[in-house]
Formats: sequence, structure tokens, C-alpha cells
Amino acid sequence: MRYNKVVYSLMALALAGCASMGKTAEPDPEADLAYCNEKVREALAHLPADSTVMPRNIEGDARHWACRPICAEEWCSGFWPGVLWYDYEYSRDPAVRDAAAEATRRLEPILDKPVFDHDLGFLMYCSFGNAYRLTGDDHYRKVIVNAADSLATLFNPAVGTLLAWPRHVKDYGGHNTIMDTMINLEMLFFAAKNGGNPYCYDIAVSHAETTMRHHFRPDGSCYHVAVYDSETGNFLRGCTHQGYDDSSMWARGQAWAIYGYTVVYRETRDQRFLDFACKVADVYLDRLPDDSVPLWDFDDPRGLDAPRDASAAAVVASALLELEGYADKDRAARYHDASRKMLASLGGDAYRSGDRNDSFLLHSVGHHPAGSEIDASIIYADYYYIEALNRLKKAENGDNLVAKK
Ligand code: GLY
Repeated sequence: MRYNKVVYSLMALALAGCASMGKTAEPDPEADLAYCNEKVREALAHLPADSTVMPRNIEGDARHWACRPICAEEWCSGFWPGVLWYDYEYSRDPAVRDAAAEATRRLEPILDKPVFDHDLGFLMYCSFGNAYRLTGDDHYRKVIVNAADSLATLFNPAVGTLLAWPRHVKDYGGHNTIMDTMINLEMLFFAAKNGGNPYCYDIAVSHAETTMRHHFRPDGSCYHVAVYDSETGNFLRGCTHQGYDDSSMWARGQAWAIYGYTVVYRETRDQRFLDFACKVADVYLDRLPDDSVPLWDFDDPRGLDAPRDASAAAVVASALLELEGYADKDRAARYHDASRKMLASLGGDAYRSGDRNDSFLLHSVGHHPAGSEIDASIIYADYYYIEALNRLKKAENGDNLVAKK
């Protein structure tokens, strides 16, 4: 008891010292993962028995997850199974493993229909990818290979990228590619080296190269949407769907770019992709507010009065934990400090949901221009947060994050 008191006093002194020097406390992955585990148990106790829905968001004063139907049209259905797998990775609790396996299984019928859009990667890889990584069960691998074959049907060789939204080709006047799709390349890389079609690798590299050429402004900030002529492949214009305007830097779009190019470098070891991942990370880091959680769009004219997006912070924190391992010494130090500062902020009172609701994190923004999910708890923020904490724990144990697959 006395010993604990002394330890806590010393910790308090150390924290006060950090604060007076303008530093943020370090995240504590063990304690933060224990917090996530507690929240997962709460959520499991409160979720509806209905096996056809998945958690999506918690808005306003609600305390429990609002769920949406499991289907290809609902892009977030794979994140809850992913959260459960990451929680199982930490807790090794068989009940959580069983819940993860059951939630994952429920996604399988999505593959019975032709591909709806590019979100198939989010749906099937955050769920089945983690299931396979943690269990080695070959059934999961086969499902991912099938999903990758389906996703590959969206590739347009004239353009060199995957079509994001087949339903919006007319609205945009051509083949539309969105930055979010960079995340879905990981599933193609996985399939190509795990018994799937080797062509999936070529598609992923072509998508990354073409996107690098057209989807960014000279400073490294990205458009959300790039429109191409479907026949000639010519780039027509960059614009936004979920950002403030066509010339703004939408935080989560930039986060997808940082994460996506980090993965593409991991899979190709092509220096161009590493240089590019660093460039798109640096422009994001240069513009962050003090607590390292971005405005939902860096160019919202309300400035610091604009809503923050914890989901973008979680995505970037996770990406930087990996990118740090590839970057040159100075950048590695920058990414090291930045990822920890982000996770410390997310784990603090301002962003942690605590006893307010069943999620891990508050204050994300889904689709601001549509007035949807503004300042909400959203399931993908929790997914990337628990992924980042598992990565940080591995990094602190001296494990090689590059071998995370
Ligand atoms: N459309 C995916 C996202 O909101 O980031």
C-alpha cells in the first residue's frame, strides 16, 4: 500500500514535470488496451441479439452502439469483428475470440453477390485478415482470396486504378477513384502472396502509382476523389465528396493516404512509395493542432472551432508506428514522437469515452457535408485505435512491426 502510494506520487510528479515542460504524457498501451477490453465487454453485453447487424456509431447522449445491417452497401460492417480480433490479441479471452469468429462469419454472404463497390476491402480484410493472422485457419484465407478476386473486377486497365463507386460513374462523368481505396490494396497484396491471383499485386501497384501521379497536389495533400475518362484513362479532375471543398485537405482522406502508402512500401519495398508516404505524412503533421487530433478538414474556415476527427488521428497513429520503422533517422524520430502524442491525446479525457458510452473514443466525424455523424463515436475510430495500441505494445516489447502480417 505504502509502496503504491510512493509510486503514484512519483508518477504524478513526473507527469507534472512533463506538463510544465510542455510535453504530453506517454500513452500506456497495457493500460489503454485494458480499458478497451473493458469497453468491449460492455458493448458485447449491450449489443442486440440480432445477427444481421453490426455496430456503426454512437451519437449525442446515446450510450450503446447504433447498429446497421450487414451488407456490401454498409461499408463499416467489418470493423467490429476487427475490434474483437484485436481485443482477443490483447486479452486472449476465449469468449472474445468466439465473439470475433461469430461476427466474422456473419460477413461471408456479402461475397455471394457481384461486387458493390471498393469498400469490399474494408469489409473483408479488417475482419477476415485479422482472423487469419491470429488463427491461421485456412478458411479465412480462402475467403480473403475470393474477396480480392471480386475487388479486382473493379480495376480499369485504361485508367490503371480500381473504380470506387460504380453507382456514381454518371454523376462524376467518368471513372471515380477515391483516396479511401488505398486501404483496400492490402487485401490484394495479401491475396497475391497467399494463393490468390498474382495479378492482384499488379493491380495494387498500378493503383498506387496512378493515384500518386494524379490524386495529390504539389504539397502532398490529396483530393478525396479523382475522376478519369473511363475509355482513355485521362485524368479529368480532382474534387471532394466528404471534405470541406475541392481544394481542402480532408483529414481522414489524408490519413488513408498515409496509411495506404506505408502499406504499399511494405509490400513492394519500392523507394518511391516510401518517399511518398513520408511526403503525405509530413504535410499532415505540419498542420496539426497542439493536441495532434486534426480538425475534420484542415481547411474548415472555423479553424479550431471546427469539429475534430479522432478517427483520422487513430488511423495516422497506427500508420506512423509502422512508417517509423522504414523512414530515415530524423523522420523516424518525428513519426515516433507524433504517434505517441496522438495516442496520448486519444487516451486522455478529451477523447476517451470513459463511462459516457460503450465506444473507446468520442469526437469523430463521418460525412460532414451530408450532416452525418458529426462529433460522434464511430466504429472505425475504435478499430484503428486498438490496432495502434496493439502495435505500440509490440514496439515497446521490441517486436518488429514490419512483420505484423
Ligand atoms: N468513405 C470512407 C470514409 O468515410 O472515410
